[in-house]
Parts: sequence; structure tokens; C-alpha cells
Amino acid sequence: DTAADLALIEANIRDIPDFPHEGILFKDITPLLNHPEALAATVRGLTAPFLGNGIDHVVGLEARGFIFGAPVAMALGAGFVPARKAGKLPADTIDQAYDLEYGTATVEIHADAITPGSRVLVVDDVLATGGTGRAAVELVRKAGGTVVGFSVLMELSALQGRGKMPDVELHTLLSV
Ligand code: PRP
Repeated sequence: DTAADLALIEANIRDIPDFPHEGILFKDITPLLNHPEALAATVRGLTAPFLGNGIDHVVGLEARGFIFGAPVAMALGAGFVPARKAGKLPADTIDQAYDLEYGTATVEIHADAITPGSRVLVVDDVLATGGTGRAAVELVRKAGGTVVGFSVLMELSALQGRGKMPDVELHTLLSV
């Protein structure tokens, strides 16, 4: 059931102190990825609210959003679209810049990846400040897609990324 799935997921996320910088407590999902039942439970949990919603494309955010995005797309009978950091995609792209703590970053998708008028689910592992997720939402809209939802494994609630998603159906499995 859902409560057992969530307990299994939570038990397989490992805290790593002082990574990548002193004072940061990193949430390491690699044990979860390497645990067959926890991995399946995560994919089920990310997918469940959007079954039967007519999703055409799942956009996964580099890099850990790729890992979950592809199986979620398969479960929904949708295509998978990678949203990548600038300069990685080979064909024509559309891009969206967003603010980081220091400076800016850019995410890109292929210009022909999202069929205009299609229904899109965005998937990632973590919602932190919300900058990356917000950029992905804007990118899908620029491409002419409808953002049906944003499905995330873990929300770091202290960073208030949820506040950047007032107009998006945000689904998170865990809030830490
Ligand atoms: C992490 C995470 C999200 C993003 C969340 O990715 O996987 O994509 O940060 O942060 P935000 O809500 O503050 O934007 P990261 O940039 O570390 O990339 P990686 O997965 O390629 O390591």
C-alpha cells in the first residue's frame, strides 16, 4: 500500500553530511535506485496521480530526473523528453535561464520535442529552491505544451520551492 511504499522509499534515502559543501546535508538516492522494490515504489508513486490524464510527454530534468522520468513515461504510455543543461543537446533547442544562488543556469529541450497542444508531466528527484522546476515549466509552455503536473520524489520544504509553483499541480512523495 501507499504508506508501506513511502516508508520503503524513505528508508532507502541516505543522508550524507557536508556534501558537496560543508554544512550541506545531501540526500543520496543511490540506495533507493539499487533497491528493486524501493525503485518500483518510487516510480509507482510518481506516476499514480497522473494515470488516465492523457499525458503525451514526460520531461525529465538532468540528471536524476532522467532516471525516474523514463519509467514514468513508460507507465503512462508517454514519450520521454530530456531537459538538459546548456550545450548538451545536438539539434535545435529552446532554452530557459533561471537564477542560482550565485549566477544563472540554463535548461534546454529540443525545439521539436513537445508537440504543440500536448499534455506534459515534468519529473525530477528533488524540489529545492524550485528554480530548475520553474524553468522546465516555462520551457514546456514556450514549446506550446500544457503542463499537467510536476511530480517529484522529495521536496526540501525549508527552501520553499513550492512557492514558485502556484499555478502547477505539484505532487511530491516526501517532504523533508
Ligand atoms: C538538483 C536536483 C534538481 C535541482 C533542484 O539537480 O536533481 O534538478 O537540483 O534544485 P532547485 O529546486 O534549487 O532548482 P542538480 O542541479 O544538482 O543537477 P544533477 O542532477 O545533474 O546533479
